Amino acid sequence: MNGEDFLYYQKLLIEHSGLSLSQDKTYLLTTRLDPVAKSLGFATLHAFTDELRRKPDARMVSLVVQAMATKETSFFRDNLPFTHLRNIILPALIRRNAATKSIRIWSAACSTGQEPYSIAMVAREFLKDYPGWTVQVMATDIADDALAHAQEGVYSHFDIQRGLTMKIILDHFTMENTKWRVQSELKQMVRFGKFNLLKPMETMGRFDVIFCRNVLIYFDTPTKKSVLDRLTERLNPEGYILLGACESSIGLGSKLKLSTDMPGVHVPVAAVAAPKEIRK
Ligand SMILES: C[S@@+](CC[C@H](N)C(=O)[O-])C[C@H]1O[C@@H](n2cnc3c(N)ncnc32)[C@H](O)[C@@H]1O
Repeated sequence: MNGEDFLYYQKLLIEHSGLSLSQDKTYLLTTRLDPVAKSLGFATLHAFTDELRRKPDARMVSLVVQAMATKETSFFRDNLPFTHLRNIILPALIRRNAATKSIRIWSAACSTGQEPYSIAMVAREFLKDYPGWTVQVMATDIADDALAHAQEGVYSHFDIQRGLTMKIILDHFTMENTKWRVQSELKQMVRFGKFNLLKPMETMGRFDVIFCRNVLIYFDTPTKKSVLDRLTERLNPEGYILLGACESSIGLGSKLKLSTDMPGVHVPVAAVAAPKEIRK
């Protein structure tokens, strides 16, 4: 790929998905976009790039974004966030949300579904002691192929073995030929939809907990800050934001601080009480 084509994709990806590509990623662009060009009938990646530049068709742009997104994930990835959810966050929300008996959680870059289904597994187990309560998990991603897999809810033996014990597998999955399908009780706790974190978030409503893990690392600093600020606005007062193990709000000037009792969990900085009016 020549330098001009690289710069074209660098700009396109920043604008459409936030992905910030350094110059040494030319090889990655070529290996991931070659198959896209071939699948659409172009003889070369260069011909595909020329056509895209001439007429940036939304479907072609979406295929480029999808091909360049890293979708690595696993059930109960890093474990600790799910331990916090089970032991501290859900019990706190049961106390706080007694009036509505409902809890909303957003998995904001859900990839192929392992994260939202892990959240739902924790919640399903937890709610056995709280009849009448509901936990709704909203799961979104920018990549159509990842969402289609997530929505189908069928996983290979390899996927299942990464992070799940035999008890969890038997409690939440049903074997189908050589694959495993999430049980309908689990599936109905999760709603999937396409959502780009660069877009306005007001339509998403408010959440008690937001998982936004292992996606900010691909963004440049202004984009990280913008996404984090807008996610914070989607949080109910005293909500929680869980980032990936290598991600943090530190240095971004966000309205978040680290929780004192849950390493890696961010909570909104408490609103500063307005000073009382001084009366003479
Ligand atoms: C590495 S995966 C992380 C999956 C999961 N959160 C985890 O931690 O295991 C990153 C995901 O972010 C998605 N993504 C990248 N840019 C995005 C954007 N602008 N809006 C929404 N999702 C995005 C990718 O499609 C991919 O599925």
